[in-house]
Amino acid sequence: MKYLIAANWKMHKTCAETLDYLDKFLPSVKDILNVEIMIAPPFTALSSASIRLDAAKKEGEFNVKLGAQNMYFEEKGAFTGEISPIMLNELNIDYVILGHSERRHIFKEKDELINKKMYSAIEHGIRPILCVGETIEEREQGITLNVIENQIRKGLAGIEKDMPYIDIAYEPVWAIGTGKTATPEQAEEVHRFIRSLINEMSKGNDDKTRILYGGSVKPENATDLIKQENINGFLVGSASLDPEKFYKIIINSL
Ligand code: G3H
Repeated sequence: MKYLIAANWKMHKTCAETLDYLDKFLPSVKDILNVEIMIAPPFTALSSASIRLDAAKKEGEFNVKLGAQNMYFEEKGAFTGEISPIMLNELNIDYVILGHSERRHIFKEKDELINKKMYSAIEHGIRPILCVGETIEEREQGITLNVIENQIRKGLAGIEKDMPYIDIAYEPVWAIGTGKTATPEQAEEVHRFIRSLINEMSKGNDDKTRILYGGSVKPENATDLIKQENINGFLVGSASLDPEKFYKIIINSL
């Protein structure tokens, strides 16, 4: 399984800043072919980034993919402010991040909506990364694994057979943007649980599904985290905004 190291820029970077980043970042990773790299800039920068990546691909083999940070499940219609899967298809977007904790907590997205988006992404050939994670209160109550199981069962309801086209990101809410990383052991405990759950749900058809860790990943902690048996890559927020730091995370994960 090729690991995936993904950058979620959230609401950061204009088009000009995106192109400037890619100019610095792409040459540094052009020979790294044994992990998959993904960048998810804001919607407004996707088109320019897609053109820039196409040009890079024409110059040779290339392992950097583009992702969207969200998507609506309908193809078109009166859904002010939303972006559809066919709009992403037009830009050759490979991945979409769904159910991120900021979508769940700030924008009140529920598992049922996330499940519809998962269906739609798969139907349109866009590989979804389903994000799950517990809050600090849930961890302190000792219900972390119940919360994760519930989010995964509801997020993947009816699409267990599509497991080869899905990735999952475990992002403890208390570790996102806080500088507090889960210890490798804390992360591995949840990753091991997710692996056995999706293995059971898909009847053993989960060998292409990567389980990424997200939550204050930095160059300094990437090596210890990636050594864990069930951590198959990262979803990086803050540290991915700097091309040199993101490059170091990739190098430290090889
Ligand atoms: O999608 C990325 C996660 O929310 C992690 O963000 O690396 O800034 O903690 P962070």
